[in-house]
Amino acid sequence: MNNPLAEGFLTERKAEPCTVIIFGASGDLTSRKLIPALYKLYCEGFLPQRFSVLGVARRKKTDAVFREELREAIVARKDKLGGQKADAPDDWDNFARRIFYHRMSFDETFAYPALGTRIGSIESEFGIPPNRLFYLATRPSQFGAILEELKAAHLVWPGGNGQGWQRVVIEKPFGRDLDSARKLNATVAATLAEDQAYRIDHYLGKETVQNLMTFRFANTIFEPLWNREHIASVQITAAETVGMEGGRAGYYDGAGALRDMVQNHLLQLLCLVAMEPPSRFEANAIRNEKVKVLRTLKPLTPSEVAAMTVRGQYDTGSMLGNSIAGYREEDGVDPKSITETYVALRLKIENWRWAGVPFMLRTGKRLPKRATEIAIRFRLPPIGLFRGPERDTQATNPGSTGQGEWAQPNLLVLRLQPDEGISLTFDAKAPGMEMDLQMVKMDFRYGSSFGMPSPEAYERLLLDAIIGDSTLFTRADEVDAAWEFITSIHEGWAALPPPELPNYAAGEWGPAESDRLFRPGEGGWRRL
Ligand code: BG6
Repeated sequence: MNNPLAEGFLTERKAEPCTVIIFGASGDLTSRKLIPALYKLYCEGFLPQRFSVLGVARRKKTDAVFREELREAIVARKDKLGGQKADAPDDWDNFARRIFYHRMSFDETFAYPALGTRIGSIESEFGIPPNRLFYLATRPSQFGAILEELKAAHLVWPGGNGQGWQRVVIEKPFGRDLDSARKLNATVAATLAEDQAYRIDHYLGKETVQNLMTFRFANTIFEPLWNREHIASVQITAAETVGMEGGRAGYYDGAGALRDMVQNHLLQLLCLVAMEPPSRFEANAIRNEKVKVLRTLKPLTPSEVAAMTVRGQYDTGSMLGNSIAGYREEDGVDPKSITETYVALRLKIENWRWAGVPFMLRTGKRLPKRATEIAIRFRLPPIGLFRGPERDTQATNPGSTGQGEWAQPNLLVLRLQPDEGISLTFDAKAPGMEMDLQMVKMDFRYGSSFGMPSPEAYERLLLDAIIGDSTLFTRADEVDAAWEFITSIHEGWAALPPPELPNYAAGEWGPAESDRLFRPGEGGWRRL
């Protein structure tokens, strides 16, 4: 790197010698995300030479076989890794020397001391001090037991043991309701200090999600407008085209869209949009502000659930000319399943900044387009200078004369993926003799502005955990507050008659019923 600033950044972000121990190493996440991310960090010089990875799982396998499986997975994804480096065999060989495999059953107490011995022998081979990052990528039901066994075998100490550091990354889902999340948080608290626990939400590792904070707090022009006086509504969409590929149905059918996407990813986005400026750019200061937002989401009663949420499930349909099976026909899905593959919500944030501003959230599988975005709709001018046909403007602008305007509300769209960027739409006079208003757009695109691909979320998050920066991980009280709200919706749904499912065809924008969440004049769901 020639850029001295970048060099400074690199030095600062460089990890200490350490070992990453991955539980559940035979799973998809390890070969698809974790190893490619570590490999890329290694190639780019973020990881030291004294570094190793130990994959732990039930299946019998040698180190050589494990390395070869990972190499094949990397080759299959090499276009995603980008650049020459991923292709250079030397880099891979150097990296692969540091990868090991250890077979064990996670539920056998006696297996943990043996694991400790294996880690110790790898550390001595590479001269690595006992700095250990344990990564729990197993079935969620095993998280608690593994933590307890790690503590019993003295592989982790709450607050550390003064020799090296131990940290644990816990994959999602963190619990499946408020009770189970509280139990797991209690186990975490009994085995680790909070600053050793890294609850992962990969959305927070996305470059564009991190940019939300920069956008709000490194600039002065938007923050004065960022409140109920100027903003009419906020719409957060995470639309996916995928269905149940990759054998996910077993997990998903027991989870549904609300648990899978809203409890974590969408509520995190909501927090970043709605939170107050933190006092410092530091993990706890930021997390304090996010918790305050989550605590303003009061648990809903069943009648509020009926009024403010809409569930959907995809039926057979067609996408890009291909016919697509309905959710209930997918492998591993109960043919009578009432699991939601789509959910839309109207939320209220009851604080001084946001009272009265609807936050509209939606996410779904088998929608026509993959797009995650946050759209901020501003209020109309108080007086309609540019009068046109009568329109109901009261809802977007309670102060409006209601006489109708030609002007359209300004719209700020933060595109999180794909086509990452930010656009601001405003009214302009179209050329000509008439006073004809048209919406025009100012557009910032990551691709053209920075000319380099963004790192994958897992690269960023793994490096942060190795360095000990928990800013982009969720804290116990955040998870608790999110589940408290989400569990009230599940309870409401359980008390209400189930909707007629399936209720949208694969390739459609969810059930038509989701439009009823809007009030007159609020504009409806954006067509993406
Ligand atoms: C995961 C969910 O957390 O996020 C998946 O379990 C979902 O169901 C995925 O598809 C979406 O992530 P991304 O990064 O593709 O938007």
